[in-house]
Amino acid sequence: MGVTTVTDVRQTESVVAKLFRSEQGGHEQVVLCQDRVSGLKAVIALHSTALGAALGGTRFFPYASDDEAVEDALNLARGMSYKNALAGLDHGGGKAVIIGDPDIDKTERLLLAYGRFVASLGGRYVTACDVGTYVSDMDVVARENRWTTGRSPENGGAGDSSVLTAFGVFQGMRAAAQVQWGEPSLRGRRVGIAGVGKVGKHLVQHLLDDGAEVVVTDVRAEAVDAITARHPQVSAVSDAEVLIRTPLDVYAPCALGHALNDPTVAALTATVVCGAANNQLAHPGVEKDLADRGILYAPDYVVNAGGVIQVADELHGFDFDRAKAKATKIFDTTLAIFDRAKADGVPPAVAADRLAEQRMADRTPAAEWLRP
Ligand SMILES: NC(=O)c1ccc[n+]([C@@H]2O[C@H](COP(=O)([O-])OP(=O)(O)OC[C@H]3O[C@@H](n4cnc5c(N)ncnc54)[C@H](O)[C@@H]3O)[C@@H](O)[C@H]2O)c1
Repeated sequence: MGVTTVTDVRQTESVVAKLFRSEQGGHEQVVLCQDRVSGLKAVIALHSTALGAALGGTRFFPYASDDEAVEDALNLARGMSYKNALAGLDHGGGKAVIIGDPDIDKTERLLLAYGRFVASLGGRYVTACDVGTYVSDMDVVARENRWTTGRSPENGGAGDSSVLTAFGVFQGMRAAAQVQWGEPSLRGRRVGIAGVGKVGKHLVQHLLDDGAEVVVTDVRAEAVDAITARHPQVSAVSDAEVLIRTPLDVYAPCALGHALNDPTVAALTATVVCGAANNQLAHPGVEKDLADRGILYAPDYVVNAGGVIQVADELHGFDFDRAKAKATKIFDTTLAIFDRAKADGVPPAVAADRLAEQRMADRTPAAEWLRP
């Protein structure tokens, strides 16, 4: 018989106990949704509405358990509070997860039922696309409420959010170049992009326009072929492992999360890391290892905020130029984070969290946005 440690207790702790434990983020509200007719089971988590209605996408995923789904919703919602705060949006953080396999369980009836739950929150939660949900799904969800973004242009939406996501990443990279090399340009720099999907392909264009040399990789050969056919000056390597060892000035992870782990950080040749992928740091401490190696890391959730800036604009009648002007500010925000990191003697990822917390704390929780 062993002694029960604090860790053991936490592993067996209920999700409800986790929710109310403040170091888990102190969420404001969690809604469990069930519609027996369509089979919908969903969790809507609102982390904070201090800055305004909680904004964040809807993930459709076959979770192994309901508890896992709640936990994912809680974590993702907290992340959105930080992202929205530093994107300069008057939005708090929220996220929804629908439990199920999108390829099997997604029906119009289920999406409409979900849309009615979003409506029931009366504007406290604004939804959008995420893993497993698409623009066409948001068009359906929007039929039941006024608080759905990520819709198609035909339905008043902004469409593909990767355009401004890539633009924002490019702004973050310019800020990193300013700090590392004294000018906000990638001209003459060698940039390696891992993942040339929706965001990566637009990033290639921005970098070439700026005079950078670009090297790409992707697990899908057709994605690489499309890039090199369009831009013969772009070179390609076999995989991300090879890319990080290739002589680079900038490494841009634009595929999946956890790109920065102990072996990759040790092997990186680049002195700037700036890319679109979410959750790039594989575990706590990686941000310090990067700083110790003199690698300037532009925090992922700051530089990839162009997409959320784009969808947030839909609530005001989408205007691409207005959204782009807001995404341009990612340059200033990234610079401010590097400044704060230097002043506080902490890695940029820590400085970003501090600045986001400051913005949330500075604002008195306002109910104004809820008034009719
Ligand atoms: N699309 C947006 O607006 C947006 C906004 C914020 C964050 N992000 C994040 O940016 C990243 C890219 O998003 P996207 O919309 O371009 O997705 P995408 O699926 O269109 O592109 C990702 C690409 O990465 C490739 N890939 C997957 N694993 C790889 C690996 N191990 N090595 C190399 N390539 C690999 C895929 O084949 C694909 O071409 C994701 O992490 C996403 O969460 C996207």
